[in-house]
Amino acid sequence: MRIGILTGGGDCPGLNAVIRAVVRKGIAEHGDEVIGFRDGWRGVLDGETVPLDVAAVRGLLPRGGTVLGTSRTNPYALDGGPERVLDTLDRLGIDALVPVGGEDTLGVASRLAAAGLRCVGVPKTIDNDLDATDYTFGFDTAVGVATEAIDRLHTTGDSHHRTLVVEVMGRHAGWIALHAGMAGGATVVLVPERPFDVDAVAAHCQHRFDSGFSPIVVVSEGATPLGAPLTTATGQRDAFGHVRLGGIGEALARVIEERTGRESRAVVLGHIQRGGTPTPFDRVLATRFGLAAVDAVHDGATGVMVALRGTDIVRVPLTVAIAQLKLVPVERYAEAEVFFG
Ligand code: F6P
Repeated sequence: MRIGILTGGGDCPGLNAVIRAVVRKGIAEHGDEVIGFRDGWRGVLDGETVPLDVAAVRGLLPRGGTVLGTSRTNPYALDGGPERVLDTLDRLGIDALVPVGGEDTLGVASRLAAAGLRCVGVPKTIDNDLDATDYTFGFDTAVGVATEAIDRLHTTGDSHHRTLVVEVMGRHAGWIALHAGMAGGATVVLVPERPFDVDAVAAHCQHRFDSGFSPIVVVSEGATPLGAPLTTATGQRDAFGHVRLGGIGEALARVIEERTGRESRAVVLGHIQRGGTPTPFDRVLATRFGLAAVDAVHDGATGVMVALRGTDIVRVPLTVAIAQLKLVPVERYAEAEVFFG
């Protein structure tokens, strides 16, 4: 078979491990030919390809980013975009496509599958907010980076008797903030699912100062104070309509400083959370997803996404996979709240 593969949306540690697994299993077990498309859907629209043989994927397992490149190109936002995608795939004789991405990339895949494209999706996002899978690869790496940052910030914060506000990624879901905040012993964790009361946050910080230590506040970039809008870095939107977030950490640091009368600084972890080598957990999960995608293609499955349920890899319909985001439930947030203040 000729299998196409692309990586779309924000990059994520583990993408190269998926590519490697698809190529290795496809070639070794089925004699497949694997064609990579450059920069997500853009490469399919423009017919820009890279041949992927075993030599091309040597050494990829621990490498961060994606050797195929990525973009947030949305064929459905372009005149004749979906037709161009289907034409390219037809012209190149691609029998099945493996798009690796989050809700946006897989949303496009789902619509193309409905239009007749043979397609098996692989979930990817450091935000871990795809409902149909227990975990996405990249999340464990991002949490590791954020936790290490929090560990380091405790010692400098305590030395200077100041509040440190750590802004982490998480547009709609606060999984990174929740896990890193719990692992790092944060004074407060603020997530998009739960608009926060600024007075309560300041009170927790004051309590931490009173106990002789300095507060660490972990805030998702998509978190909002009660009654206030999202804090955005610019007014720009991407092809899927998302605004660029950023700035909540700085805004919060200013208010906490005012309320506690102690210096407060913000640290934005940003893309550091997405870059660099994946953790062993993410390498293994990404590899298993890649292997399962090849199995699904050869079983004749289409319009499905591979997913982790417990310790098993299963297939779920793409339509179900993108239907809703996995948000932090009240009871998980309550576990973190026990340690606030
Ligand atoms: O979707 C993953 C994500 O990391 C979000 O948490 C974040 O809002 C977004 O990507 C940032 O992406 P960009 O690289 O386009 O700034």
